[in-house]
Amino acid sequence: MSTSESETNTPLTPLNQGHVFTGAEEEFDRIPLLDLRPQFERLRDEIGSLVLGVLDHGQFIKGPEMLELEQALAKRARVADVVTVGNGTDALQIALMAEGIGPGDAVFVSGFTYVASAGAILLTGATPVFVDIRPKTFNMDPDDLEARIQRVKADGKLNPRAIMPVDLFGLPANYERINAIAEEHGLFVVADAAQSFGGTLDGHPVGGLAPVSTTSFYPTKPLGGYGDGGALFTNDLDRAEVYRSIREHGFPLGDRTGAVRLGLNSRLDTLQAAILLAKLQALDGEIYRREVAARAYDSYLKGKIEIPIRPDNVMSAWSQYSIRVKNRDKVRAAMTEARIGTAVYYVKPLHMHPAHAAYSEGPGSLPVCEQISKEILSLPMHPDLDRAAVERVCQVLLSVLD
Ligand SMILES: Cc1ncc(COP(=O)(O)O)c(C=O)c1O
Repeated sequence: MSTSESETNTPLTPLNQGHVFTGAEEEFDRIPLLDLRPQFERLRDEIGSLVLGVLDHGQFIKGPEMLELEQALAKRARVADVVTVGNGTDALQIALMAEGIGPGDAVFVSGFTYVASAGAILLTGATPVFVDIRPKTFNMDPDDLEARIQRVKADGKLNPRAIMPVDLFGLPANYERINAIAEEHGLFVVADAAQSFGGTLDGHPVGGLAPVSTTSFYPTKPLGGYGDGGALFTNDLDRAEVYRSIREHGFPLGDRTGAVRLGLNSRLDTLQAAILLAKLQALDGEIYRREVAARAYDSYLKGKIEIPIRPDNVMSAWSQYSIRVKNRDKVRAAMTEARIGTAVYYVKPLHMHPAHAAYSEGPGSLPVCEQISKEILSLPMHPDLDRAAVERVCQVLLSVLD
């Protein structure tokens, strides 16, 4: 797997996805980055009967499973409403569109995330302002956020409108500080929880930590479907109605006579909703098993390498277990040689992507993001990763550390 491939959503290569297991002799000692096969085996009957149910009733768009999933997600996140959509990127864009955010507006976004976070902002015509991260959490640095808001205000060219924190690798961002900063400056918060659904902060589930939170059901996410999907979570029923309108071309609810706003075509397929309903039942147990795997890693790596931070008030969804290593390329090569899947999230911070050059002050402008992108490495992580596999990954890792 080349470095550039791992910049995208987790690529589906033999070392990175257990589903392509061929049964060949040399496959048996392989430790993939992600293995979804055991989960499917556990949920096979449940998924099968829900999928057959959809094929039987034939309501492939906005079928009863979609509504049932929205209600189950709202209950799980303890929010008033959930609106499912076609993918996590659309969810972010819809959240911004509903606020009327567009050309001339500034949206402050973590500089260390998947390109989708910036893409959603740019698709509205607004300008992303990249914010540096904290070196231990890899999440938006509230102090840098404050400084950049002040600079944009002093500059006077853009109208500050919203903040988009990202819960990287499953760890919720510092919402206490970020929500307070937003309130002080009159900004709206759109939480990009694509990687963290299932986690908690101060006992509150992800989904209810900001006025609107979005997630992704891309197959590799902690709650992943068998295709694309996403959702918006909110306690504001008026906003939810606007989200439902935008996901269907801007038609008002139940009225197809005239579109009242600009919209997208972005609904979650009923088949995906059925699959997600089955997987949602298993989510809590799976997050617990990810936590057990993370603790196993910690036990082998603590004191030898910088391990992921786990604040007392936070439960990560552990979409990735990511470490910092100085000699990353050597470590990765050794892992590949040992048939262990790894990934680099992210090879470049957002401001270093050629497509974002116009919104960037170039190298040196987000020093923490830049340093982390040179050292970050994600190790195998999924609910069925056992201790023996973790031990082998750590043995290989520790044997090649500088
Ligand atoms: C942080 C982040 N934001 C947004 C997205 C976009 O989600 P999707 O791929 O469902 O469009 C992803 C993942 O893919 C992500 O990791």
